[in-house]
Amino acid sequence: MTTNAQGSGKRAVKAVIPAAGLATRFLPATKAVPKELLPVVDRPVLQYIVEEAASAGITDVLLVTGRGKTSMVDHFDRRPDVEQRLEEKGDTERLAAVRRTSELADIYTCRQGEPLGLGHAVGTAASHVGDNPFAVLLGDEFVDEGSPLLPDMLDLQARTGGIVLAFIEVKPEETSRYGIASVRESDLGEGVVEVTGLVEKPAPSEAPSNLAVVGRYVLPGKIFDAIADTKPGSGGEIQLTDAMAALLEAGTPVHGIVYRGIRYDTGQPLGYLQTVVQLAAQRPDLGEEFRAWLTDFVGGQKG
Ligand code: G1P
Repeated sequence: MTTNAQGSGKRAVKAVIPAAGLATRFLPATKAVPKELLPVVDRPVLQYIVEEAASAGITDVLLVTGRGKTSMVDHFDRRPDVEQRLEEKGDTERLAAVRRTSELADIYTCRQGEPLGLGHAVGTAASHVGDNPFAVLLGDEFVDEGSPLLPDMLDLQARTGGIVLAFIEVKPEETSRYGIASVRESDLGEGVVEVTGLVEKPAPSEAPSNLAVVGRYVLPGKIFDAIADTKPGSGGEIQLTDAMAALLEAGTPVHGIVYRGIRYDTGQPLGYLQTVVQLAAQRPDLGEEFRAWLTDFVGGQKG
């Protein structure tokens, strides 16, 4: 195994969560409630994402928010009134759950004034992040906590100093929903590939592979200069994929880890419902009863 001299050897400790989008696919539910706060059983989607970051060693999380979305920040604040009530009732379990949200990481916030694209959203984090490597976690997807992805990505970035992505294999007809990479083999570890090209949302006929970029990135600080130089691309938006492709072109090492675990995509109603059902079915407190009901329900539908 080779060690790339460019890496600092230190893992990134900051994460940026772009969450300023309008969530038109969930209207009217998202008129007044950010889609990132829609519940999956009894925790909002965003909490799963911050928990994923925290368990990978991230200690500093910057939420990129927009108008009408500040309640996302409140979710990670203390609630002394609620805590006192639970303490009086002796409900230690809920008290711990409520306190936990404010103890996961240091939460910061900045604004994306206009929805100009994912690259633009990440660019708003420049002064908070500075020159350090950092993780980006998209606000509507997360992975199974039993098979985490971020720790390996952070380790790999500390070695290469470059960009580290995560991929899933998608069906040919799905390439136009994702950033797609061309890759070659890498000697940096099991499941690691070296990226040779990146294109945002190509038509199936234009796609260089079926490896789709998922919403986890570990990036070097120099991405901010690349974003500043990026012109609007796919959908007329400033694309993170285009900024990463420019760094790749200029010689920055780009690697990807092919993820084989379960990815929950809550960005559209069907994926959201599937996420709720899967996680409810796994819950130790209500999973058994829920699964039994679900089996009866589905059986009844068929009959
Ligand atoms: C974004 C990225 C895309 C990536 C996808 C993963 O697209 O631009 O490259 O594959 O997230 O979910 P979006 O889903 O925001 O349109």
